[in-house]
Amino acid sequence: MQFERKEVIGNCTLFLADCLAVMPHLQGVDAVVTAPPYGINENHKKNASREKKAKPRDYGTFEWDSQPASLDHIKAMRAISQHQIIFGGNYFEGLGPTPCWLVWDKQNTGDFADCELAWTNLDKAVRRIYWRWNGMIRKGNDVREHPTQKPEGVMAWCLEQLPKTTKTVLDPFMGSGTTLVACAKAGMSGIGIERDPAYFDIACRRVHAAYDQKDLFAVNDDAPVMKQASFLDGGAA
Ligand SMILES: C[S@@+](CC[C@H](N)C(=O)[O-])C[C@H]1O[C@@H](n2cnc3c(N)ncnc32)[C@H](O)[C@@H]1O
Repeated sequence: MQFERKEVIGNCTLFLADCLAVMPHLQGVDAVVTAPPYGINENHKKNASREKKAKPRDYGTFEWDSQPASLDHIKAMRAISQHQIIFGGNYFEGLGPTPCWLVWDKQNTGDFADCELAWTNLDKAVRRIYWRWNGMIRKGNDVREHPTQKPEGVMAWCLEQLPKTTKTVLDPFMGSGTTLVACAKAGMSGIGIERDPAYFDIACRRVHAAYDQKDLFAVNDDAPVMKQASFLDGGAA
């Protein structure tokens, strides 16, 4: 398997690599949850012309969104996992009809798309989440570090749609690592692949922070338990 770096953080493994070089070698992936490049040339110049109320953040120019994920990418994702949730599924070849699209309604008022669609092969009906992501007005506390970063809350909701038996989730187009952050917080194992070193570093930092935050709020099983008097049986509970 060819990769430039590999980091293991908690139950997450992050590869700096081209996903096509790594995916065929992975085992034990239950589900792929990802947002590949849609091929719509999303970049800072385009954002600048659409966000008129506030100065958009400058993410620099990038080329990775000039082409959508190819049929080879789609085939590789489908070959190694039983379940897939693929954002931008309306842009890619090779997915086919499905009863279950996941719809993220961004509650937009501008000229951005109202919703983003994730194709799935889940055996359930279409599901929708409202999560406002409207220019500068955004639900949640996400700090945006990637030009097409997904909200953590939306990715956590996607993980909830998977069968309860799902243990290991792969995001082959990891970007800033939002899927893995959601995995870490949900107690799932995550594998992420990203080929841009700057985004890879951001993902590593965010996944570390997710585990640190989880430890901070973890229940300490050794802590003394306060017992409360029971009002029902007249004695200590
Ligand atoms: C749409 S973004 C994903 C954003 C991510 N969901 C997030 O929340 O940050 C797609 C990412 O895939 C990466 N990418 C594109 N082609 C790739 C490839 N062949 N292998 C690995 N990563 C790739 C790009 O660098 C980009 O960061």
